[in-house]
Amino acid sequence: MATAAHFAFDPLLSPAGAATMVRICESFGSFKMYSEEPTFAGIGEGLPARWDAVRNFVKTGGRFGRNEPLPVLAARTNYFRETYAYGTDERVEGIGPFLHHEGFVEAARQLFGRPVIEPAIVYANLLVPGQELAVHTDVPEFRGVNRKHHPQWLIVAMHHSGLFEPWRMPIATGVAWFHDCSGGEFAFYPDGADAAPVAHPVRYNTALLMDTDSVFHGVDRVAETSASVAGLRPGMRLRFAGDGRWQMTDGDAIVAEYRWQELRYSVSWKAYCFTDAAEQRAWRENVDDLTVEAVVDRLVADLRARGVIAGARPSDTVLIDLLIDTYIRYPAAAVAA
Ligand SMILES: [Fe+2]
Repeated sequence: MATAAHFAFDPLLSPAGAATMVRICESFGSFKMYSEEPTFAGIGEGLPARWDAVRNFVKTGGRFGRNEPLPVLAARTNYFRETYAYGTDERVEGIGPFLHHEGFVEAARQLFGRPVIEPAIVYANLLVPGQELAVHTDVPEFRGVNRKHHPQWLIVAMHHSGLFEPWRMPIATGVAWFHDCSGGEFAFYPDGADAAPVAHPVRYNTALLMDTDSVFHGVDRVAETSASVAGLRPGMRLRFAGDGRWQMTDGDAIVAEYRWQELRYSVSWKAYCFTDAAEQRAWRENVDDLTVEAVVDRLVADLRARGVIAGARPSDTVLIDLLIDTYIRYPAAAVAA
């Protein structure tokens, strides 16, 4: 395959603009775990939102094929996330210049050759030492099927199946960093899952932009330690404690304390990329929407055609893993350490 387009920014913002992005994180104050993302009624109810990535991470031990107990692996990739802006809803003061960053908008135009760019979301990820982000592709969006209402693992499998491209809304993603982090490289696969990844270092006020819905990527481990993830449990929070310190809390109890420079902080920007205003309108007005039922029926029919399913349709539990394993071809893990 051709190398996937990606755009680098160095610097991304003015010095004052970059300092604001750090202050925004501190003033946001409290970050919850990604595992608190909602799951949805219907197929896969109760599964983790990114069952696809979790399943692969646990099966392979991550990019470096490490062999660790399940609770440790789960804690490693259960990082902290909050949303700074959603559509026109700017949830933190000062996020405007990042949300409407002209360099991101222009790169997004070039990425898909689609001129109408609509910034959709800005969110921040925080990882503590010992954490990493399992290799994955991001949750794409289709007309009628999106992450707010439908299972994320299913939407990812839909994209990898290639069966629903006429309904897909291409999304450009910028990932920005606002400190120098030792470890925690952004590892991505611009030449496809079968080729070697690029491990991009995290440097203050820099960014990359690409189609992260199609390009596999992850975050390498932030510091080689298991001590700080041993006590991590779903439901904990990461809180800014002032004076360059962050605390992991379980209710009122403080479980661990970190200095700013020990964490990994990234801010992601996502924008819809439309061909023209008519397409933008069709998306907004829900013309020609897919339904989850029709999507699953189409995928089951395809699994039958491929010989993956014969006879009666399997239970949802079996079907879900068949969908993930058939369509999402992850990069192989490196030789076990
Ligand atoms: Fe991602």
